[in-house]
Amino acid sequence: MLRILCLALCGLLTGSRADPGAQLRLGMDIMNHEVQSAMDESHILEKMAAEAGQPRPGMKPIKGIKDVKVKDVLTPVITLNVVPGEGIFQCVSTGMTITGKSFMGGNMEIIVVLNITATNRLLQDEETGLPTFKSEGCEVILVNVKANLPSNMLPKVVNKFLDSTLHKVLPGMMCPAIDEVLVYVNKKWANLYNPGPVGQFGTVKYLLASVPTPTASNIQVDFSPEVQKQGGSAIEIADGQTLELPEGYAEGSSQLLLSAAFLTAELTLLQKSFDVKIKDKKIGKLPQTTKTLADHIPAVAEAYPKPKPLVTQIKINKPPKVTMKMGKSLLHLHGTLEIFVARRRGKPVSLFLLEVHFNLKVQFSVRKNQLHMTTSFNSLLSLSRESSSIGNFNEKDLTDYITDYLQEGYVPKVEDVLQVGLPLPDFLDMNYNLAVLDVAENTLVLDLKLN
Ligand SMILES: *[C@@H]1O[C@H](CO)[C@@H](O)[C@H](O)[C@H]1NC(C)=O
Repeated sequence: MLRILCLALCGLLTGSRADPGAQLRLGMDIMNHEVQSAMDESHILEKMAAEAGQPRPGMKPIKGIKDVKVKDVLTPVITLNVVPGEGIFQCVSTGMTITGKSFMGGNMEIIVVLNITATNRLLQDEETGLPTFKSEGCEVILVNVKANLPSNMLPKVVNKFLDSTLHKVLPGMMCPAIDEVLVYVNKKWANLYNPGPVGQFGTVKYLLASVPTPTASNIQVDFSPEVQKQGGSAIEIADGQTLELPEGYAEGSSQLLLSAAFLTAELTLLQKSFDVKIKDKKIGKLPQTTKTLADHIPAVAEAYPKPKPLVTQIKINKPPKVTMKMGKSLLHLHGTLEIFVARRRGKPVSLFLLEVHFNLKVQFSVRKNQLHMTTSFNSLLSLSRESSSIGNFNEKDLTDYITDYLQEGYVPKVEDVLQVGLPLPDFLDMNYNLAVLDVAENTLVLDLKLN
């Protein structure tokens, strides 16, 4: 008994523990577009019309009618609605003209308007683990039947025709069409699990965290992304952040949400590249020499009476961290900043080493279907002296100097590194370049737009 209870509880706990690092809210705007283009791509209606003329099982020859043909299949109107907990209710309204010849002469024409309905569920394919649509409960509803008959044709024959042919044959003819269209839609999930490169640094895979859930206005697809270092281990995504979509997004619209924790894990791939050594650089108009530094710390002038060039080394010793509040995102960097005096011969001599924590303001954008970040210096949060070869000094006197230095010397180097884009989930041929971005609590929102 206890074991059963634990199994149930533990199942629940593991099921609800991990916060998705990314979430797709798939609205009916995108789904409509997808289904419509899949219908076009699959040429399904032409195929149906061609097939309809063929004799098929269950279709008894109709007494008194020959040369039965289907023509003028109407362009279908597709309506999709999410049914919470169920899936997408799909209705394809279309029509066609059935023609034939009476044996006694004269042309027969029947115009049929019909709805094909089914529920499409987004499941997880057992073999590939990929999201996949499957339709259930397909039905054909005759909306309207109008017959144009030669006067010598008996209504009884026509009724028999409608009964035996339309009611029996149409579902068998139309329902496979729904499935075939879904094959085309499903193909567009096939690349989802291909690792997307983060430059040369590593890869990201958007794995499904659970079976997608239909909610009142969209299908929610939770991802637990896998961030993998090049030739190394996976980087863990910190738990404990919930994704948040602010109010004000249109009903039925689609969004991709990325958590700050996930972006942090991606930037951890770049951590080593944020280490830099800078020399021969002017900050403002001033060259980097002991003389410039001596304006802030007089002890430098005592140790080096003649101006000597400086070399600065910045090492980031903690994973970079992204934080997000309504409308503002910051990139936090912790590390050491060491200033050396360059010598004509031999190794540079360390002047001092400071422990620094500063942050940069981040601006997100999408280019070439990848997420990009640009940064600008925001603030120096802490500065403490770890070692010095010129004796004690108050590191606070260096605040302006270090701030200028980070702003003008370091941020451009960070920008160079951030030239690599971050991959976005590849599904349904999504064009992210049109997305409108917004920063919410711990969440980057990409409001997805169609072409
Ligand atoms: C057929 O589908 C259309 C469009 O979804 C809908 O307006 C209409 O009520 C449906 N008719 C029937 C008989 O189900």
